[in-house]
Amino acid sequence: MTETTAETIRIVEVGPRDGLQNETAIIPTATKVSLIERLADAGHCCIEATSFVSPKWIPQLADASEVFSAIEKRPGVRYQVLVPNLQGLERALAVGVREIAVFTAASEAFSQHNIHASIDQSIERFRPLLDRLQGTGVNVRGYVSTVLGCPYQGAVPVADVVRVASALQALGCYEISLGDTIGVGTPRQARALLCAVAEVVPMAQLAVHFHDTRGQALANVYACIEAGVRVVDASVAGLGGCPYAAGASGNLASEDLVYMLHGCGYRTGVDLDRLVQVGRWISTELHRENGAKLGRAWKP
Ligand code: HMG
Ligand code: MG
Repeated sequence: MTETTAETIRIVEVGPRDGLQNETAIIPTATKVSLIERLADAGHCCIEATSFVSPKWIPQLADASEVFSAIEKRPGVRYQVLVPNLQGLERALAVGVREIAVFTAASEAFSQHNIHASIDQSIERFRPLLDRLQGTGVNVRGYVSTVLGCPYQGAVPVADVVRVASALQALGCYEISLGDTIGVGTPRQARALLCAVAEVVPMAQLAVHFHDTRGQALANVYACIEAGVRVVDASVAGLGGCPYAAGASGNLASEDLVYMLHGCGYRTGVDLDRLVQVGRWISTELHRENGAKLGRAWKP
C-alpha cells in the first residue's frame, strides 16, 4: 500500500470504560477525566468515556455524570458512553451525551449474568431508547458480547451472533461491534464469524472488539481487516475486562494496534508516541503492569 492509497482504520478507544469498569481500586474522577483528555490529545477520534449502568453493579463508574461533565470536549472527537436502559439514557442526556452504546450478548447465559435479562428482553429494552432518541441526533452503537465463546455456556453458534447483530441493526444502531468478551477466538474463526455477520449487516456497519486473554487479539484484528472491517475497538495499555466474565483480561492494547496498523500502511490519526506516554502514565496511576507490549518496547 502506498502513501496515496493509505486507508483509514477508525479506532474506538474503550479504555476509560471497558478498562476502568474492571479495576478493583476506586479511581479518582480527576484521573478518569485526565485519561480521556490525554487520549484525545494523542489523536483518538472516538473515545468510550464511561458507562451509565447501575452503580450497584459497576460502582467503579458510579461517577459517570461527573466524568462526562468535566471532560473538555474537543471538536472532532466523539465521546460515546455505555447505556443499558432508559434510566441510564436520561442520566446520559442530562449531561449532554451525543452518542450512546447499548449492549447485549449472543449467549443467553452471559446475558442473564451481565444484565439480568434474556437476549430478547434486552433488545426489547432498547426499543424505547431508540424511540426516545428520535429526532435528537444522538447516535446509537450496539455491542454483541460473547461472539466467539461464552464463559458459562462455552461454544456460541454463529447463527446466534448473526441474529442478534441483525436485530440491533434493525433497531437503528448505526454500527455493531462484535465482542470476543473472553478472548477465546482465533483468526480464522474470527474472520469466518465476521463474514457470516457481514452477509446480513453491511461490513461498513461492523466493528470488532477483541479481549486479549489468550494473546489472539492482534492476529484476530488483522484477519478481520483483511476481510474488510474498518473499525476496531482497543484499550490503552490493554486495560479492561468484564466483571461478569471471570478471567477475561484486557482489550487489545491500542498502542500495539496502532503500531501494527501504521506498519501496514494504514492511517489512524493517532500519534503513537503520545499514546505510549498515555499508556505508561495510566499504568503508573493504577499501579498495574502496562498491558501494551509497545509500552515497554517503544523508543521514539
Ligand atoms: P437489574 O439489576 O436487572 O435491576 O438492572 P433493576 O433494573 O431493578 O435495577 C437495580 C437497581 O439499579 C435499582 O436501584 C435501579 O434504580 C438501579 P435500587 O432500587 O436497588 O436502589 N439502576 C440504575 N441506576 C443508575 N443508572 C442506571 C440504572 N439501571 C438500574 N442505568 C441493569 C439491569 C442492566 C441496569 C444492570 O444489571 C446493570 O447495570 N448491569 C451492568 C452490566 C455491565 O455494565 N457490564 C459490563 C459492561 S458490558 C461489557 O463489558 C462487554 C463489552 O465490552 C463488549 C465485550 O467485551 O464483549 C461491551
Ligand atoms: Mg469488552
